[in-house]
Amino acid sequence: MPKLYLGFLASHGGSNMQAIIDSIKRGELDAVPCVVISNNSNSLALERARNEGIPAYHISSKHFPNEDELDQAILDTLLKHNVDTVVLAGYMKKIGPKVLTHFKNRVLNIHPALLPKFGGQGMYGKFVHEAVLKAGEKESGCTVHLVDEIYDHGRILGQRKVEISPDDTVDTLSAKVLEQEHILYTEILKKISNGEIVL
Ligand code: GRF
Repeated sequence: MPKLYLGFLASHGGSNMQAIIDSIKRGELDAVPCVVISNNSNSLALERARNEGIPAYHISSKHFPNEDELDQAILDTLLKHNVDTVVLAGYMKKIGPKVLTHFKNRVLNIHPALLPKFGGQGMYGKFVHEAVLKAGEKESGCTVHLVDEIYDHGRILGQRKVEISPDDTVDTLSAKVLEQEHILYTEILKKISNGEIVL
């Protein structure tokens, strides 16, 4: 079965990325973390990448104010490192058409809710959990999906659920969901690598 060659894009903490790297290091996921790209020079994700000895790049609109050039620079970096699967792990920017076209059906994202509910533009981070709690939902969770031109819209590859208790806050719910995210992302990548999920 094919080994996956992963390119990560992350803006902040990169805990999902770390969970995937850890599972590779434990020999549970047959993949290579080829490169990490962040739009945020201070992101913990870049620091984690450097600690792991993974090539790490800060590529943002500061270097490439032109959207098209930014898209091309990200694509070039992914290609230079022989990436075959792009893993968005808390990446706060929209992926450009060049990357999406080259990596058609090979760009994955994780969203901290049970899509198709609570997705779309502006639905990220605490806003998602706020909306879930406000709607009085009994459960929430996380979703790994393919990325297309529309926010949180591509094919759903898998989900994990958490129960919501009456005393949950945005912080407690987000922590519960994040714990499941770390399990789900690796689970889905394993299924892709062993052929259970065909992209
Ligand atoms: C996660 O909640 C993920 O669902 C969302 O951004 C957050 C990233 O967390 N897309 P981390 O950077 O992986 O710690």
